[in-house]
Amino acid sequence: MARRAIASAPGKVILFGEHFVVYGKSSIVMAISRRVYVTVEKYKTEEIIIESDLGYTGLFTGNTYKPLIGGLDGEPILKPVYIAANKTLEFLSINSGLKISISSEIPIASGLGSSASTFVATIIATSYLFDCSLSYKELFNLSLRAEEHVHGTPSGVDQAIAINGGLIEYNRFSGFEKLKSPVDIPLIIGNTGILRSTGGQVAKVRRFAEKNPSIMKTLFLQIEEIISKAKNSLVEGDLEDLGILMDRNQELLRIIGVSHEKLEELILVAKRAGALGAKLTGAGGGGCMIALVTDKVKNSVAKAIENAGGKSLPVNISTNGVEVKLYNDDS
Ligand code: MEV
Repeated sequence: MARRAIASAPGKVILFGEHFVVYGKSSIVMAISRRVYVTVEKYKTEEIIIESDLGYTGLFTGNTYKPLIGGLDGEPILKPVYIAANKTLEFLSINSGLKISISSEIPIASGLGSSASTFVATIIATSYLFDCSLSYKELFNLSLRAEEHVHGTPSGVDQAIAINGGLIEYNRFSGFEKLKSPVDIPLIIGNTGILRSTGGQVAKVRRFAEKNPSIMKTLFLQIEEIISKAKNSLVEGDLEDLGILMDRNQELLRIIGVSHEKLEELILVAKRAGALGAKLTGAGGGGCMIALVTDKVKNSVAKAIENAGGKSLPVNISTNGVEVKLYNDDS
């Protein structure tokens, strides 16, 4: 096989603060053990071919898209990856075509950060292929440009966690800080299977904020308090308090209109089965919820989610952020 770079980056769950993070509030986010893998090789000049295990392959030449597998439906999915790769080539002043292959363990459009992980892995693999290295800031900013194509005002939380891994506090103005918890944070993800667009959800919150400035102001104060208490509970390893704070965060998400009846159902059954706390994670409107569990209740919570029609997925913190390796012909 030709010289190629293979990178991977983790998905994430937002424990606290999604949406409010877009408005400059802090958030707490954890990388999960599901990853996206991206392989990048050189290809014919001026052409970037992208194949995804979602069943789409397409060829980008300048501004034109030619579907090879999966028809035109593939364009909106592959285009941001093209932007990520193309902006990286421009930034590195490299004139080359690329072949990019994506395989992912993270379900798309579900709030688990699959797009940001794909962009981060694509960008770092592209830079490695040409023996270039990017600083954290360069990788972050290039990936944010691609995310802007997905929705106009990304906070950058998804890129920060895909690059760093672990558990972080993220603020779009002050950046990230690594957090440590003396105990594991065992979660069951419940996927509603309902796909939604992050851009649509962010726009919905924007409309809410414009119509209800004073309510939004109160919610900002409440999320600040939740984040500050959650940081203490994490440091102290107090899972019961964390659970209570997750429930409080969910109340705020309900008010800004990003929950969904299926999410509410999964949250309810998870709590009834003994979860310490539960909330939606990511943009909401469908996608996933998370339930904080103990060893004693984790099976019953997973079962309750499945019985209610959700797909359950147990996850813990993944400490590994983005990783990349270069392979030559004989390796
Ligand atoms: C998406 O994972 C999180 C949101 O807060 C959007 C963003 O921060 O860019 C909904």
